[in-house]
Amino acid sequence: MTQPPFLRVPSVRVQTLCLAGFMGSGKTTIGTLLARQLAWRFVDLDDRIEEAAGLRISEIFERLGETAFRQIEADQLRAALGRAFELKESIVLALGGGTYAQPGAPEFLRAANVPVIWLDSPVEVLLARCMTMTGRPLFRDENSFRALYAQRLPSYQLAEHRVDSSGEPGRVVAEILSRGIMSTGGREAHLVVEKPQP
Ligand code: S3P
Repeated sequence: MTQPPFLRVPSVRVQTLCLAGFMGSGKTTIGTLLARQLAWRFVDLDDRIEEAAGLRISEIFERLGETAFRQIEADQLRAALGRAFELKESIVLALGGGTYAQPGAPEFLRAANVPVIWLDSPVEVLLARCMTMTGRPLFRDENSFRALYAQRLPSYQLAEHRVDSSGEPGRVVAEILSRGIMSTGGREAHLVVEKPQP
């Protein structure tokens, strides 16, 4: 039965926004600031992975290997989207550097109606940022870093939105907000039960 307009309960639109990009692209920094500005929850996929495994990312790579890491990553991506949907919470979800480059991941997020922003920075900037940080098992040396970046570039280019993230984080957030990605309406993510296809 159709309700008369005055009885209609306004629905709260729940949105999920994913930040993708290579190591050092600023997913966590920008995601935290962006979520604060939007008054949404910030979720870091790497944190979810560590919590689920009860191990640091570097320990997962060392003890279980990258294949197991990718499986946990895919499971936690699905779980994070599902949780946000169930709790009716809007979230900014920072992916890991490799998440969006895994086979099937772009298609999975597109099917879930989740907009993805690729935080793009020149490889020199990424390199300089990662040089000073530890705990990244896939940052071994400059050559392999550049090779992995080149290998993944075509995947990041599949993202619906690209934002230059080489500048000051506040400006990057302002740029994202100015794009109107979160206010275009009708972009409610839906619950995803399928696994990313291999
Ligand atoms: C990875 C990047 C890391 C983390 C893991 C694997 C990758 O995330 O998920 O070490 O494959 O590039 P950050 O990009 O947040 O460092």
